[in-house]
Amino acid sequence: MTLQTRIPTLHRPPTVLIAGGAGFIGSHLCDSLLQRGNAVICLDNLFTGRIDNIRPLLNHPNFRFIEHDVREEIEIGGEIDRIYNLACPASPSHYQTDPVGTMKTCVVGTINLLELACRKGARVLQASTSEVYGDPEVHPQPESYLGNVNPIGPRACYDEGKRAAETLMFDYHRMYGTEIKVARIFNTYGPRMLENDGRVVSNFIVQALRGKPVTIYGRGTQTRSFCFVDDLVRGLQLLMESPASVTGPCNLGNPHEVTIETIAREVLSYTESASPLRFEALPKDDPKRRKPVIDTAACLLGWRPRVALQDGLQATIAYFALRIAGESPTLVPAIASRRTGHSTRSRLKATDPGG
Ligand SMILES: NC(=O)c1ccc[n+]([C@@H]2O[C@H](COP(=O)([O-])OP(=O)(O)OC[C@H]3O[C@@H](n4cnc5c(N)ncnc54)[C@H](O)[C@@H]3O)[C@@H](O)[C@H]2O)c1
Repeated sequence: MTLQTRIPTLHRPPTVLIAGGAGFIGSHLCDSLLQRGNAVICLDNLFTGRIDNIRPLLNHPNFRFIEHDVREEIEIGGEIDRIYNLACPASPSHYQTDPVGTMKTCVVGTINLLELACRKGARVLQASTSEVYGDPEVHPQPESYLGNVNPIGPRACYDEGKRAAETLMFDYHRMYGTEIKVARIFNTYGPRMLENDGRVVSNFIVQALRGKPVTIYGRGTQTRSFCFVDDLVRGLQLLMESPASVTGPCNLGNPHEVTIETIAREVLSYTESASPLRFEALPKDDPKRRKPVIDTAACLLGWRPRVALQDGLQATIAYFALRIAGESPTLVPAIASRRTGHSTRSRLKATDPGG
């Protein structure tokens, strides 16, 4: 089923609020929804989001940016048909800088958006996470798995915050009939990730491009499954426009499982980097294995990831290469050769550096 067939027939373009719309995933969602003819309101406090990510949209007649913190009450005039709640720092280095603030963003922020949804009669999609499964004892993880989360560890502000947000979604649904969708997002990567947020793919790419050691935490045998952002954004929209009876939770991620060391070696190969691998201690509560069961998304939404890891990595490398080319291009073989056009990597799809 295509996205178009599910978008409701309105006498005006649907108005979509994206909380966290200036972030990595949110900005791609803004792009996609605008391209589909929606009016988009992007609400963000710019904690980890960047104006650069949405700069090309700022003059678009159907786009509006509101700088606002979801922990504060949200008043917006006019109609709102859909609300995507992506507002929350996603990487440990950011969500652990202010754990109480992270928990408030998950809980108070979600309540504020649900209240807005009630006032506007809007449907809400919550960007939940595979972290609700914690360090899973069941592998791969279906939505029915209730998880293995440490409620008092350093990751709990995020993991438990996201679990509480799911609870709120379902309680508003049961108490007030709010139309809800809960997406459990697994590791997603692509252009517009932050360089410095400690996420695996961006870390490896930036270290490799800068010729620095590529840091692997643990022995590198722990696995992840990485979903390219275009696939994820398509899945989010399909879930949002699915029939009202489909509430989720719905896993969205790529079931292709790879070890962390494999990713590191692929990045080294695509960047033509001579960086060594450096192994360091595994952080506390770091999950050892992650892989989604995506039967729900496949059956109910007809969704499966389409972008191969190799293609997604190369597009992401092209983005980071352009972003950091100004730093010291001669030290970075992949950048230098791309600039002179001598590399096989010059065939890479260059995505826009600033969003
Ligand atoms: N990227 C992933 O792999 C991944 C995996 C699972 C879940 N998610 C979820 O998807 C969402 C988007 O993730 P992302 O990777 O784009 O992260 P991101 O950090 O790039 O985006 C989050 C956005 O929310 C904004 N934000 C944070 N706190 C806010 C607040 N209190 N008020 C208003 N805005 C606020 C940030 O400024 C940023 O623009 C997050 O909710 C995250 O938990 C992401």
